[in-house]
Amino acid sequence: MAASSVSSLVQSLGEIPPEQVVFGRSEAMRALRERLDKVASANVPVLIQGESGTGKDIIARMIHGLSPWKTGPFVKVNCPAIPGTLLESELFGYEKGAFTGAYGSKPGRVELAHRGTLFLDEISELDPALQSKLLQLLQDGQFCRIGAQEDKKVEVRVVCATNRQLENEIAAGTFRQDLFYRINVVNLQMPALRERAMDIPALVSYFLEYYNHKYNCRAKTLSNELMGMLQKYHWPGNIRELENLIKRYVILGTEEAITADLVNREKDFFNSEIPIDGPISLKKLTRQAVRELERKVILKVLQANHWNRKQSARALNISYRALLYKIRETGLPSNRAKYASPATPPTQSAAAD
Ligand SMILES: Nc1ncnc2c1ncn2[C@@H]1O[C@H](COP(=O)(O)OP(=O)(O)O)[C@@H](O)[C@H]1O
Ligand SMILES: [Mg+2]
Repeated sequence: MAASSVSSLVQSLGEIPPEQVVFGRSEAMRALRERLDKVASANVPVLIQGESGTGKDIIARMIHGLSPWKTGPFVKVNCPAIPGTLLESELFGYEKGAFTGAYGSKPGRVELAHRGTLFLDEISELDPALQSKLLQLLQDGQFCRIGAQEDKKVEVRVVCATNRQLENEIAAGTFRQDLFYRINVVNLQMPALRERAMDIPALVSYFLEYYNHKYNCRAKTLSNELMGMLQKYHWPGNIRELENLIKRYVILGTEEAITADLVNREKDFFNSEIPIDGPISLKKLTRQAVRELERKVILKVLQANHWNRKQSARALNISYRALLYKIRETGLPSNRAKYASPATPPTQSAAAD
């Protein structure tokens, strides 16, 4: 097959090179790293599960980079992005005359991934017919181009990713259980960013350095206050959201803009839908909601009292010390200058603070 057709399919990599994945200090990531090192060199299928933006793509590329076939192709297929009818020919290829318009034959992505990694993203979206073809591929390395008489054989490492609980899909009858067992030989669970808040400083400093370099900027290290806010925010978009926030900070150069933005995003929390796709921790959710409510009330009272904290404490019927503690805990800035109201652009003095 032509080298160019392979390279055009080798996905344009995300911005961050996979060898620079930041693991941080959290136990979840330490365990993940250990598992990765163990499985990368063995040609077994891997299933990566986790919310959107937690790093499933980058980890899939890292697995490829650590595998014996690292010099081979890395071929990604984003299952929902290709309409159902096209997906079969994209994946498995076709022979001349297989269907109207098949004037020549064409290899599928499975074939292009020979001696490399086939990364199937959002695997839950695969329809039943394709699920059985994939099952065959995983069982004996064989598949059939559309319209072909004979099966072909390939050697590929299959890595799948999903942001859904496949167990639920199996129960609903939309995902084959036997396929699940085949793709789930090794399971990697990507933790949500809110569950690894202790890794945020390492991620922030990595993105800061990366984008300062990329855009030739000199954005400063974040203040402790803002870092505290970042560690308390619930990050529905996970690392992708954090990366974009830091990118914006590097370009804009001041903390005020992103502080205001963060406060706005938190406001949306109550109006947003509660994810019920994965396991829910009612306790955690309640704690988060209570803290968010406290933050809202305290902010309102501080504003009403022109940021006078003694008066605010009285208005809230709590001690001055308790208020200071809560301000810190909820990630609110300690004074007005540091709080850039979302409605009003930061003033010179606020920006200089
Ligand atoms: N551990 C990490 N270290 C550095 N960058 C990361 C890390 N995890 C994710 N990223 C970056 O965050 C963004 C989202 O990651 P991605 O792998 O696309 O997530 P997912 O596939 O789970 O949606 C990408 O730009 C990626 O490079
Ligand atoms: Mg992805």
